[in-house]
Amino acid sequence: NEDIKILAIESSCDETAAAVVVNGREVLSNVIASQIDIHTKFGGVVPEVASRKHIEAISAVVQEALDKANVTLEDIDAIGVTYGPGLVGALLVGLQYAKGLSYALNKPLIGVNHIEGHISANFIEYKELEPPFVCLVVSGGHTFIVYMKDYGEFEVLGGTRDDAAGEAFDKVARAIGLGYPGGPKIDRVSKEGNADAIKFPRANFHDNSLDFSFSGVKSAVLNYLNNKEMRNEEIVREDVAASFQKAVVDVLVDNAMEACKKRKVDKIAIAGGVASNSCLRESMIKRGEKEGIRVLFPSMILCTDNAAMIGSAAYFEYKKGNIAPLTLNAIPNLKL
Ligand code: KG4
Ligand code: ZN
Repeated sequence: NEDIKILAIESSCDETAAAVVVNGREVLSNVIASQIDIHTKFGGVVPEVASRKHIEAISAVVQEALDKANVTLEDIDAIGVTYGPGLVGALLVGLQYAKGLSYALNKPLIGVNHIEGHISANFIEYKELEPPFVCLVVSGGHTFIVYMKDYGEFEVLGGTRDDAAGEAFDKVARAIGLGYPGGPKIDRVSKEGNADAIKFPRANFHDNSLDFSFSGVKSAVLNYLNNKEMRNEEIVREDVAASFQKAVVDVLVDNAMEACKKRKVDKIAIAGGVASNSCLRESMIKRGEKEGIRVLFPSMILCTDNAAMIGSAAYFEYKKGNIAPLTLNAIPNLKL
């Protein structure tokens, strides 16, 4: 029963990240090189720029992860890497790097689904956590309610029919002049606003589905702002932010709790960048207490894109014998 050390690499969007993780739970190092400064100039991630920046950063990021973990490539048991979903050019940088290492060192390559990575961040945060549980995955690119039956076994119970939750945060933030990335800024500004000031719509599907739609609430905010501007009326940015945030959080919490009832589980994990939202965390805990459901979430650094979560997911895939061939390709729209 030897310890398994995995070197994990993540480059699916705008963070170049590498980590060393032991047995899927213990993080020896977690290095993240963010490109946020460059993309901020454009108000969002520019795919071609992201690919180039990954190429520039990856060698140093991997070396730093090894150094901080106080290990060499010889000590590593396997290489884990995100192969989707994400931006194809960005994914390819991490994937090719990982394949090169795997081939040169003759060590197993493990392909990791980025969404499974986000969910697995909870295994790092909660050492005793084991499936089954329900997970709400909310990030800039994804919004899913997933039932995790066992390690590596997922049933998607609901998803967004249009925008991802984080995407809606980013778009509304831009509209009220908060800039990119909008989520954390809306979170901060909302603390000074009244969440009941404006009634924004909550999309609700009447077919017993746990799906989401966020383009409606986004449009409602844009219309509200346009009307106010046309009439030369004052816009209280804090109130708009808080009311919008509450509308999004309400449906996330409702559907997440409903999913727990459907699958009869008493614990729910949150994952992805939006899982660091303070209103979502508070509302989930409050509803969880009422319904007898334990609410789990990773610390902030494990919520947004990082490689430690990829190292955790890679370990459980490794244990199942899911070793990837060196022909593994990037899959931009990879499903769970
Ligand atoms: O998981 P992540 O780093 O990247 C993706 O895989 O998409 O998530 C980034 C998203 C962005 O849309 C960002 O605005 C959002 O997470 N986000 C937040 C908060 N922190 C990050 N949204 C709401 N509140 C936050 N505190
Ligand atoms: Zn992500």
